[in-house]
Amino acid sequence: MPEVVSNYTYLTGRTPLPQLWTLGYHQSRWGYENARDVREVAGKFRSLKVPCDTIHFDLDYMDGYRVFTWNEADFGTPGGLLEELAEDGFKVVPIIDPGVKREPGYDMYDEGVKEGYFAKSPDGEIYVNVVWPGEAVYPDFGSPDVRAWWGGRQKYLTDLGFKGVWNDMNEPASFRGELPDDIVFTDEERPSSHAAMHNCYGHLMAKATYEGMKRADGKRPFVITRACYAGTQKYSTVWTGDNQSLWAHLGMAVPQLCNLGLSGFSFAGTDVGGFGADTTPELLCRWVQVGAFSPLFRNHSPKNTKRQEPWQFDEETLAINRKYIELRYRLLPYFYDLFFEGEKTGYPVLRPLVFHYENDPETWNQNGEFLVGENLLVAPVLEQGATKKPVYLPQGTWYDFFTGKAYAGGQYYLVDAPLDVCPLFAKEGSMIPTYEVMQYVGERPYDTLKMLVFPGDGRYVHYRDNGVDFAYRSGAFHRYVFTANGGSVNVEIDRDGYEKYEKIEYIMMGA
Ligand code: GLC
Repeated sequence: MPEVVSNYTYLTGRTPLPQLWTLGYHQSRWGYENARDVREVAGKFRSLKVPCDTIHFDLDYMDGYRVFTWNEADFGTPGGLLEELAEDGFKVVPIIDPGVKREPGYDMYDEGVKEGYFAKSPDGEIYVNVVWPGEAVYPDFGSPDVRAWWGGRQKYLTDLGFKGVWNDMNEPASFRGELPDDIVFTDEERPSSHAAMHNCYGHLMAKATYEGMKRADGKRPFVITRACYAGTQKYSTVWTGDNQSLWAHLGMAVPQLCNLGLSGFSFAGTDVGGFGADTTPELLCRWVQVGAFSPLFRNHSPKNTKRQEPWQFDEETLAINRKYIELRYRLLPYFYDLFFEGEKTGYPVLRPLVFHYENDPETWNQNGEFLVGENLLVAPVLEQGATKKPVYLPQGTWYDFFTGKAYAGGQYYLVDAPLDVCPLFAKEGSMIPTYEVMQYVGERPYDTLKMLVFPGDGRYVHYRDNGVDFAYRSGAFHRYVFTANGGSVNVEIDRDGYEKYEKIEYIMMGA
């Protein structure tokens, strides 16, 4: 299976190493309607000491849902709020939909009409449908000129201080019936049709966004897209769209993320807490336990539902959210190593058990547990009211991450899982790199690496770079090789191209 995934991603492209902060916690809600709302949310994270790197801006930050505009009435001076949030370590990612409001006098519309950048009906008229801004027209992303134009617009966002882009509604969605098959789109140099281009519309939009972001700020672009195609992983992370706050949808999250990983989409996540309908404290706690191990960790919900930031319920829910968000921040170097490895191998960060144990039929239908890399096995509770979890551990010895208790693999266990416990196991001989918890990436330098060393012999390669740009591709990184043998650990520096840690601590695990 690893070979198949590696070959498939060799052909379609691999998920590139992201910026480190994108692996932290993201808070989103379609419902942050003004600067006051956003400030309050940001302030709560810091005062309650729940780590958070990213806040997402849904539709309301725009002026009348016109893409590449700013709603001054509710969000103040353009960019001012972003500067304020940046002082507190927050990165902000705005939503950008493809539909451009049909409105003479609006620069995006006027430019696109003048240059012939919008999809047309067979009679040559610009095709109009309805999306959030009302009547809207569709950029023809199959054309390289349109992609360059759209890509160039990302600079408007980075100049304001946005750090990534969230592309949505790019199936493309339409509220006044589906786009007819014969709407004229371009396929690179030649005319094509909606029927032919539909499935790659989101892909091409993400590509335009990625390339534009890369030109605009030179960093590893952070793009999220709802629609995608084979290969979109080269440009963008994905989320699984509008799920509901239902236990059944939490259950689906595990096979969805496993399948996305096997399909090349290593950087993926679900709306933590569930998007539609009201979440409950218990569901949010269990979802945060899955989210903490999902490559993309974002809590999101819409207007007219119960708010679901970590503090919206009771002290227990807040404490459980904090516990798992903090665990994610401790594990950041492990996730980052997996992304680095994935850029070379195509192996996903989150994997079904069968990925590494394909000769063990017991792993073939495991939809209730998953691996993060080869060394961590996560067995989240996915059922309402459950406080025990049946866990299958594959061959070898596994150690309870929290208690150190050893389990012989190749069998099932019924393990205790009260609401604050997500059963988590480390494989024998594994070494897991961790950092001290910060409230956000960059709060202080990560100058100490804490290696958790589980019993057994093993080898682990740890990677470190500036976490931001492409300098690593020309060698600006550090690589440490750890070897555990007969109870002692040895470290060698195998590439010396970036700052060293001031200190490496070894924490011997196991009971
Ligand atoms: C779509 C997106 C959702 C977003 C909403 C408003 O439903 O999937 O995430 O909040 O549009 O922009």
